[in-house]
Amino acid sequence: MATTPVLDMLLLPVFVLSALFAAAARAAFVPTDNYLLLCGTAASAAVDGRTFVGDAGLPASALSAPQSAEANASAGSAPASGSGETALYRSARVFPAPSAYTFAIKKAGRHFVRLHFFPFPYQSGDLAADAKFRVTVQGLVVIDGYTPANGTAVAREFSVNVTGGTLSIAFTPTGKVAFVNAIEVVSLPDDLIADSAQTVNPKGQYTGLSTQALETVHRINMGSPKITPNNDTLWRTWLPDQSFLADSSVTEHKDVPPTAIHRASGLATAEAAPDMVYATATEFNTTLLSLSTISVQFNMTWRFQAPLGSAYLLRLHFCDFISQAANTMAFNVYVGGWSVLQDYQISVDTQGALAVPLYRDFVLNAKDVTSNITVTIGTSTLGNVNPDGFLNGLEIMRMVGSTGGDGAGSSQSGSKKTKIAIVAGSAVAGVMAVMALAFFVVRLRRRKKPEKKPSSTWAAFSASALGSHSRSRSFGKSSSGGTRNNNTVTLGQSAGAGYRFPFAALQEATCGFDEGMVIGVGGFGKVYKGTLRDDTRVAVKRGNRRSQQGLNEFRTEIELLSRLRHRHLVSLIGYCDERGEMILVYEYMARGTLRSHLYDSELPPLSWKQRLDVCIGAARGLHYLHTGSAKAIIHRDVKSANILLDDSFMAKVADFGLSKTGPELDKTHVSTAVKGSFGYLDPEYFRRQMLTDKSDVYSFGVVLLEVLCARPVIDPTLPREMVNLAEWATQRLKNGELDSIVDQRIAETIRPESLKKFADTAEKCLAEYGVGRPAIGDVLWCLEYALQLQEASPDSSGADSTRVVPGIATKFQRNQSTASDGTEAMSANLGDLDGMSMRRVFSKMIKSEEGR
Ligand SMILES: *[C@@H]1O[C@H](CO)[C@@H](O)[C@H](O)[C@H]1NC(C)=O
Ligand SMILES: *[C@@H]1O[C@H](CO)[C@@H](O)[C@H](O)[C@H]1NC(C)=O
Repeated sequence: MATTPVLDMLLLPVFVLSALFAAAARAAFVPTDNYLLLCGTAASAAVDGRTFVGDAGLPASALSAPQSAEANASAGSAPASGSGETALYRSARVFPAPSAYTFAIKKAGRHFVRLHFFPFPYQSGDLAADAKFRVTVQGLVVIDGYTPANGTAVAREFSVNVTGGTLSIAFTPTGKVAFVNAIEVVSLPDDLIADSAQTVNPKGQYTGLSTQALETVHRINMGSPKITPNNDTLWRTWLPDQSFLADSSVTEHKDVPPTAIHRASGLATAEAAPDMVYATATEFNTTLLSLSTISVQFNMTWRFQAPLGSAYLLRLHFCDFISQAANTMAFNVYVGGWSVLQDYQISVDTQGALAVPLYRDFVLNAKDVTSNITVTIGTSTLGNVNPDGFLNGLEIMRMVGSTGGDGAGSSQSGSKKTKIAIVAGSAVAGVMAVMALAFFVVRLRRRKKPEKKPSSTWAAFSASALGSHSRSRSFGKSSSGGTRNNNTVTLGQSAGAGYRFPFAALQEATCGFDEGMVIGVGGFGKVYKGTLRDDTRVAVKRGNRRSQQGLNEFRTEIELLSRLRHRHLVSLIGYCDERGEMILVYEYMARGTLRSHLYDSELPPLSWKQRLDVCIGAARGLHYLHTGSAKAIIHRDVKSANILLDDSFMAKVADFGLSKTGPELDKTHVSTAVKGSFGYLDPEYFRRQMLTDKSDVYSFGVVLLEVLCARPVIDPTLPREMVNLAEWATQRLKNGELDSIVDQRIAETIRPESLKKFADTAEKCLAEYGVGRPAIGDVLWCLEYALQLQEASPDSSGADSTRVVPGIATKFQRNQSTASDGTEAMSANLGDLDGMSMRRVFSKMIKSEEGR
């Protein structure tokens, strides 16, 4: 194949698919469970942009606290903090006997439980003198013997993994009374706390974090002022670090505008910490460093008080906006005096990208916490890097479940369960409270934000029936009130087809966007499984309504997708822009992502032939993108999670949606900020910010390796040289060790010639420079050849191979392709090699018959 610069010029990308990272950063998290209670009052209060509602309006059964009293702070005794937080401390509920709140939980998983305490004089005494108590959450003691200090407002924050349908918070007085001023119970993203982390001493791996209840003891934003809850998507507070620095003379503060931060999928999400945390850092004093000789080393250390007797999870947040180039800085990291990262180069973790946020988690054993917990950054002794170092943020979380000497062990869950059972048995009234409380809160919110219920005037809805009445652009746009004006979607005239669904139809199809229907979550929003009235199954992607970025992508996806029709591209059925919504409706791909069939799931391994079919299908989809229209389209986020499979394992490329139409181009490449997914990124694109269709070919090569090896593209749990699939596998291939990397579950069934062809193809796709890589059409040809080589095998009469006469198959294929999608003109060029499509049709028929 002759890929010359001239050829490259003919393959000009015109639509630039982009903006993935920025979208991920901006799509605000919406907690499924979101209870904000003011205790001991009927009033509600707006605090930091959220509304807390009083618990006094609850029916008597709503709280298992038969004798609780409402208490109000007399004027002047509430803390004189400048923020709206004061409103949380004007009242309290006082418990002379054991009492519990029970919350109905809609979505299992990790939740924040925040308890607010501020003691003040009340009817029969003074809380500061009378209160001493224990608090349990789900039966686990989280606060024991708490005696609040006079005049001090305290917020205690826990994060608890809720597995059942309720969350119980119980208060037990150990002195005269217990009390609480306000309670928050808020869903957290599932990926916020991973199950495993590196242990500090000895170095190893801790697993079982996901069942641990954690208490936030310190949450620090290095190098910048306090971040208040309304500046954090999870309403957290981040304090500045100055007062924790052991010696501030060796440090200085650095910052960049938050917009300079680029999120990358697979690393820190927007919920991990706000941009403001990553955009500021405490760095070594660079003047000091520049005056020193290389041999002089420095440490900067932060000290934190933390209760003894517990293990701790430490999360260090890093974002290298300081280095001018990748791999030019390394430093050491110590926790509690133990080295946890030696000569750490952040840009290795970010694959060379700068200003990309990430965090590293460490577990410190209870026995290793003897006084303060220290975190130290030290200069590296490596000769070829800058002696420098910095830290952006730090969270220190007490592992509440891990009492006793040995914190590093996941043996807690058993004892925790029995405790839950005991509490549940002793608080029968609490169960009654569940429904009442949930109802109450919901009702109140409804009242606050009245939403005009959509009229049920829409008729039975089906994708096929839509054509006739779908273009009426005047529908509904102005009816949903002015509040969302700036988000109202107006599609350009060029926006082609695309059926416009009434919001109510999609609400019905997804059972009111029920969490149980969620089949995927991305930067853009959530994807729900839905069923239209005519039983058509659909995938409904609901965009975040607040993001302007999302709005552009929404438009682009509609415009792009309604112009692109291909058997191997996931098709758009319609959209909904009613009431400021940004909803896209796609055909439903029953078997999910290719990734889920390769690893990290329970699904049976795909056969080699199935894998080849899937790769061929995906390559066709990409080939169509690159060459099918007058102007080439670069997908830009090719990965196994963006290749979806239908009922009969036919592959379709998805998610060219977070994209925008680029400017008209008459250059050979698009120059753009690096975007895409880690582990798949074209190194040339990284280095030169040059995007060509060959960037997709590189990413596709990584997908081929995933298919071959059935392992994740980045697996941080593996030894260093194995972490990155592309690096590791190409090295092995270069050494002629193909057999050692093949998915061992199916290695026996693969014919060596087919395997060799496939591996060679993958290797070519991964050539360092774009010009060295084949065009996707050549890749397609090679894969089809690999399939033929496998089919030629005498052993191939296995489960799913259906033999056909190639000549007939080819004809059939051509007919079929003109009938069902005239756009697939390219298949004709491939001539006789295209026989497998026929087989696919057959196997589909066979499968669906079996299924009936
Ligand atoms: C926090 O948010 C407020 C508005 O809600 C804004 O005025 C302020 O500048 C923000 N502060 C930081 C540190 O981002
Ligand atoms: C930096 O701190 C670590 C951990 O406490 C210690 O082992 C190391 O000797 C210190 N280095 C310097 C130069 O002080």
